[in-house]
Formats: sequence, C-alpha cells, structure tokens
Amino acid sequence: MLQTSGMLSSCLAFLATPSVVSLVSATQYSFSKEYYGSTFFDDWTFYNNYDNLTNGDAIFVSAQVAASAQLAYVDTTTSHAIIKVDNTTTVPYNDKRNTVRITSNDSFAVGSVWVTDMYHVPYGCSVWPAWWSQAPKWPEGGEIDTFEGVNLQTLNQMSLHTEPGCTQVSPNETSTLVNSTDCSYDANSNQGCIVTDPSTASYGEGFASSGGGAFVTEFATSGISIWFFPRSQIPSELSSNASTIDTTTFGTPVGNWPSTGCNINQYFEPQQLIFDITLCGDFAGNSAIFNETCTGVCYNDYVIGPPSGYDNAYFEIGYVRVFSTPGSNTTISPSTSGSAAGSSPTTGSATSVEIRQGYVWALTAVLLGVVGLSGSGLL
Ligand SMILES: *[C@@H]1O[C@H](CO)[C@@H](O)[C@H](O)[C@H]1NC(C)=O
Ligand SMILES: *[C@@H]1O[C@H](CO)[C@@H](O)[C@H](O)[C@H]1NC(C)=O
Ligand SMILES: *[C@@H]1O[C@H](CO)[C@@H](O)[C@H](O)[C@H]1NC(C)=O
Ligand SMILES: *[C@@H]1O[C@H](CO)[C@@H](O)[C@H](O)[C@H]1NC(C)=O
Ligand SMILES: *[C@@H]1O[C@H](CO)[C@@H](O)[C@H](O)[C@H]1NC(C)=O
Ligand SMILES: *[C@@H]1O[C@H](CO)[C@@H](O)[C@H](O)[C@H]1NC(C)=O
Ligand SMILES: *[C@@H]1O[C@H](CO)[C@@H](O)[C@H](O)[C@H]1NC(C)=O
Ligand SMILES: *[C@@H]1O[C@H](CO)[C@@H](O)[C@H](O)[C@H]1NC(C)=O
Repeated sequence: MLQTSGMLSSCLAFLATPSVVSLVSATQYSFSKEYYGSTFFDDWTFYNNYDNLTNGDAIFVSAQVAASAQLAYVDTTTSHAIIKVDNTTTVPYNDKRNTVRITSNDSFAVGSVWVTDMYHVPYGCSVWPAWWSQAPKWPEGGEIDTFEGVNLQTLNQMSLHTEPGCTQVSPNETSTLVNSTDCSYDANSNQGCIVTDPSTASYGEGFASSGGGAFVTEFATSGISIWFFPRSQIPSELSSNASTIDTTTFGTPVGNWPSTGCNINQYFEPQQLIFDITLCGDFAGNSAIFNETCTGVCYNDYVIGPPSGYDNAYFEIGYVRVFSTPGSNTTISPSTSGSAAGSSPTTGSATSVEIRQGYVWALTAVLLGVVGLSGSGLL
C-alpha cells in the first residue's frame, strides 16, 4: 500500500512536472491569507498608546476601546471593516483625539502580493491616514507605503523608505508625478522615493465617489510595484476572488521601483501590514502642507472641540488578501517565526511613515550634538 502510493506519486510528480513548469511564471501568485468579515480584526495588534511615532494629536486605542467605542468594527450588513477616528466626542484643550493603528501579527516575505479593496478612505482637515508596511527593525528592513494622504489633498502618495543605497531607477510605471527617487531615510528629510498617483479617484472624496477601489502591492525580488484600480476597473481575478492571480495581466503599475536601482532582497525584510489614521503631526500638521488645502490651525480648529470635522475620517475595507509565489507560503506567523514578528511595531522615531520625519531627525541630531558638546566639556 505504502509502496504503491509512493510509486504512484513519483509517477504523477514526474508526469506533472513539465506542465506545472510551463504554467507557472514568476508573476503568478496563489492565495495565502485573508482578512475579511467578522474575523477581520482577529490577527492584528492595536497600538494602544498615544502617537509617539509621528507627533500626531492622536491616541491609538486598545482593541478593547476600539471595539467598545466602535472605532474598529465590522459592519454586519456589508461585512466591511471600519477603522475610524472618534467623531462623537468633544475633546477638551490639551487632550488628543482617539483613533486606531493596527499592525498585522503576521509578516510577509519577498514573493508576496497584498491586495486591499476599500470603499472609503479617511480624509478631512488634520486627518492623515496610511495603508503601509514595514519590517520590525526600521529602517533596516524597509518600508512600503502603498496609500497615504493628508487633509483635503486629492492624490494618493506612494513611497519606499530604506537604508542608504536604494533608489528608483528606470521605473515602468504610469505615473509621471515622481517627487523624489532616493529611498534612503537619510536623504531629503526622509521623504522616501515618492510617486504620486495622478488620479483624483486615488484619495479623498474622489475615492469614495468612484466607489473606492483596490490597491495591489507586489513585493518581488525583481522590484516593488503598486497598482490602483477604481472600482469599475478592478480586474476580474480580484473581484471574483480567484485563488491564483497573475500580476502581468494587471497592466503597467502606477508606481514601480525595479531591483536595478534597489536590491529588494538586501533592503527589505518580511513586512508587517499597517492601517493607521493620525491627526496633524509631522506631515498633516506641517503648517505649509496644512495651508495647501485647509485653513486655520490644525490642532486648535479641528482636533479639539466638537467632532463634526471627522465624519469622513474612516477606512471602509472590503478585504485584505495576501498571495504568495506558488510552491511557497510567504506568510510568517509569530508562532512559527518564534520571536519579534508579532510584537508591537517600532522603537524610536525610526518607525515613521511620514515624509516630514526629517525634522525630528534633524532636531534629534542637534540635541545629540549639544549633549555631545556638553559631554566633551565644550558647553
Ligand atoms: C500560510 O501560512 C500561514 C501562517 O502559517 C497560514 O495561516 C496560512 O493558512 C497558510 N496559507 C496556506 C494557503 O497554506
Ligand atoms: C495578534 O496579537 C495580539 C497581541 O499583540 C493578540 O491579542 C491577538 O490575539 C493576536 N491574534 C491572533 C489571531 O493570534
Ligand atoms: C508630489 O508631486 C505632486 C505633483 O506635482 C504634488 O501634487 C505633491 O504635492 C507632491 N508631493 C510631495 C510630498 O511633495
Ligand atoms: C477567497 O478565496 C479563498 C481561497 O482562495 C478563501 O479561503 C476565502 O474564504 C475566499 N473569500 C471570500 C470572501 O469568499
Ligand atoms: C512595462 O510593463 C508592462 C506591463 O507589465 C509591459 O507590458 C511592458 O512591456 C513593460 N515595458 C517595459 C519597457 O518594460
Ligand atoms: C499658514 O496660514 C496661516 C494662516 O493664514 C499663516 O499664519 C501661516 O503663516 C501660514 N503658514 C505657512 C507656512 O504658510
Ligand atoms: C460619524 O461618522 C459616521 C460615518 O461617516 C456617520 O455615520 C455618523 O453619523 C457620525 N456620527 C456622528 C455623531 O456624527
Ligand atoms: C511609544 O510608546 C510605546 C508604548 O509605551 C513604547 O513601547 C515605545 O518605545 C514608544 N516609542 C517611542 C518612539 O517613544
């Protein structure tokens, strides 16, 4: 019996091999993991601390508070997951407003594609949302920002943040709005290598009014690519929940960072996925940026006082799905990886997503310089 089945499977393996090889190309990915419906929030870690990462006027609440205050919940009629800023509390002067930041317990290695389908993304004066990923040891393991916007801006911003040596070279991408090509946290005040999506359907009111859409992030040895599809253009492989997807059928990505300018295996480690919404802080609250689309003072005129400015400050998420190169499962669970993968993100100012973190770095450098000088007896 054992011998027979062993012989049979060897035979089948032999016969199957040529056709499998011809069917599977490097751009095909098979289903690995889904966050959806009533279990959407089960496998994430809530930050449970005020925003000590990007200086936002926000408290990222615990899972318990998020559930009881309905800041993170699943709408039972649509099965959509909602992640939102508190829009029911009048906040007194000197306090911060409650919101949410969640990090996936699992990490996803090179050879992964993550897809999120959303119906609404947070926007409004003082609001700064992001859908992104990073390795636990930043900037060592890199950061991929798939979706990020602030205030009443209308375009999504995508970027990578890495250690020095990773740049965007000869991308094959549809966007011509390239803001910066050096991905190093140490260059250009850590703005990263930014590509802006030219479509007003990619953020804000324009996103919601076109029914939302799907963001696809391909994290491959050959490079990192991001696609955005407004709802009417979502590929059928995604809308039908196909168990295998082929990214070459998605057309040219809106943002692309090929390995020719950035050795992906060198600059990136397995990524944890993050949704967060902060308020003001280094990016949205930067007065020159704030003034581009909003009036008044970020904290005084929006965060505190009545909550009416936050009715649009929410993510409405259909699903998050992760795919892996066939024959492998690039999903790494904390239980299987042993230690740090499932821990809370971040140590130091190093875990920032925002582009204005450079100011904090510069300030830190000045302070360290002063300490150094005084330590050496010069001050
Ligand atoms: C991939 O591995 C993860 C973590 O061990 C597991 O949760 C998931 O079910 C696996 N997926 C498949 C398709 O085997
Ligand atoms: C994810 O991690 C959090 C703590 O960080 C834990 O409370 C939660 O149960 C974990 N989820 C799963 C499915 O293991
Ligand atoms: C990037 O460029 C676009 C188009 O010029 C602009 O709208 C956007 O504000 C720029 N982003 C940053 C962060 O400078
Ligand atoms: C999507 O497909 C995967 C398997 O390919 C399955 O596990 C999952 O439940 C499906 N999701 C929905 C919402 O049907
Ligand atoms: C850019 O990508 C598209 C879609 O994958 C592909 O058809 C095209 O040949 C690529 N162009 C170049 C110059 O590589
Ligand atoms: C932003 O606008 C306010 C109010 O008009 C003004 O006082 C401030 O100087 C502006 N800041 C910048 C950086 O433009
Ligand atoms: C908070 O925002 C949600 C979503 O936009 C809205 O349905 C709700 O009515 C708002 N709550 C209050 C108290 O305004
Ligand atoms: C932020 O707060 C958390 C929880 O207290 C702490 O573990 C972490 O070290 C803090 N990070 C920074 C940059 O202060």
